[in-house]
Amino acid sequence: MSEEKAILTIDGKQIELPVYTGTDGTKAIDIGKLYDEHRMITYDPSLANTGLCRSKITYIDGDAGILRYRGIPIEQFDNESPNFVETAWLLIFGRLPTQDELLDFRARLTNNALLHEGLRQRIEMLPPSAPPMASLSAAISEMACYYKGYLTLDDDEQLTEVAARMISTVRTIAAYSYRRSQGLPIIYPNPKLRYVANFLHMMFSYPYLHYEITPEIEDAMNLILILHADHEQNCSTATVRVVGSSLANMFSSCSAGVSALWGSLHGGANVEVMKMLDGIYAGGLTPEQCIEAAKDKANPFRLFGFGHRVYKNYDPRAKILKAACDKVFAQLQHQDPLLDIARKLEELALSDQYFVDRKLYPNVDFYSGILLRAIGIPTNMFTVIFAIGRLPGWIAHWKEQHDNPTNRIIRPRQVYEGNDITDYIPLKERS
Ligand code: ACO
Repeated sequence: MSEEKAILTIDGKQIELPVYTGTDGTKAIDIGKLYDEHRMITYDPSLANTGLCRSKITYIDGDAGILRYRGIPIEQFDNESPNFVETAWLLIFGRLPTQDELLDFRARLTNNALLHEGLRQRIEMLPPSAPPMASLSAAISEMACYYKGYLTLDDDEQLTEVAARMISTVRTIAAYSYRRSQGLPIIYPNPKLRYVANFLHMMFSYPYLHYEITPEIEDAMNLILILHADHEQNCSTATVRVVGSSLANMFSSCSAGVSALWGSLHGGANVEVMKMLDGIYAGGLTPEQCIEAAKDKANPFRLFGFGHRVYKNYDPRAKILKAACDKVFAQLQHQDPLLDIARKLEELALSDQYFVDRKLYPNVDFYSGILLRAIGIPTNMFTVIFAIGRLPGWIAHWKEQHDNPTNRIIRPRQVYEGNDITDYIPLKERS
């Protein structure tokens, strides 16, 4: 329990509030009893200043541009190890896995890669042109119909199994939806392939021609998934926590996370970045005009892939992705004029007073699409890839919320500004 107190003075009365201090020294004033004891609430639009929970999963210092998973700096994930599967285990279970734990988790991923036939048929019923994020959200939610034994979790064994099932299945669902959208036959998972390679196989192989997975492409995909794996209380993760706080199961909570991620201010921004770069390439706007449009308050356009609620510095994920673009492009001897346009936009924005004053820097979505495009992922699958990457983070936060013995349903209040008591007027008396 905290020793430190904050004093709130209102109407001549002093109210003592407990203060908690995070690992980095950030202080949080606990206002949890303010309404019950004093009939007062706080007003924090968009929850920009509100700690939703106390968490041990991911640390961000937005001013310094620091991101750590379970204490490990994100820059240390830029390697073969920890790869995405190890990162997922770390996030969910709180420490790096032992060899045996990792082998066990890998085996579970392999065993759970196939879709339940019923679920596959349900996906078949969606129009092939369905937005992939709609299919993903629906399919994750429908998993609750096929795996009812996991609607309540009694022990760690069940949690490990359902986590592996979700992390494995989500990639099969994504690849299957893509194949259907292209009118291509489904490619079943290959148990001999590792997680990322298997996904690329399901996306791009043909029954008569196996897609050749180069180490460069496998590494780049691994990196993209790792960099998206968690980001503390972002919109979709907070959504997963809110839904999970009602004791809703993992499937429905993560399906809600997919829906929240879809929006263009969040995960959907990677698609908007690509549209913006494509538009400039096609000659619709020059980079300079694009910057001017983003600054114009009368224009709803924003420079997508720029700005962040927490980072007031370069997003460390964007830094890693920008370097990865250079490396992978050189390895693959690949060229993309959109990379030059992105670099130009970044250069213009970072030297423009509007962006400097507001501390707007590239975020994770600015360069991820260019790298995904080099891997061969179509633009309408970008946010789905983000979701595959973010799933371990959602599961970790869902678990933390559930494991908290003091969990209460998340239920904010409001400042009501509508009518005072108003009499009902019968229809015939209304003019
Ligand atoms: N282009 C132009 N202006 C911007 C941008 C942008 N990309 N981002 C912020 N601003 C401006 C705002 O208009 C505002 O200006 P004002 O102070 O003159 O009113 C100021 O910067 C502060 O911006 P807010 O909207 O208050 O920032 P907020 O924290 O609410 O939003 C967000 C953060 C949604 C990421 C915002 O920066 C944005 O819309 N960026 C573009 C979309 C995007 O890239 N989203 C992905 C974020 S990362 C992720 O979710 C994975």
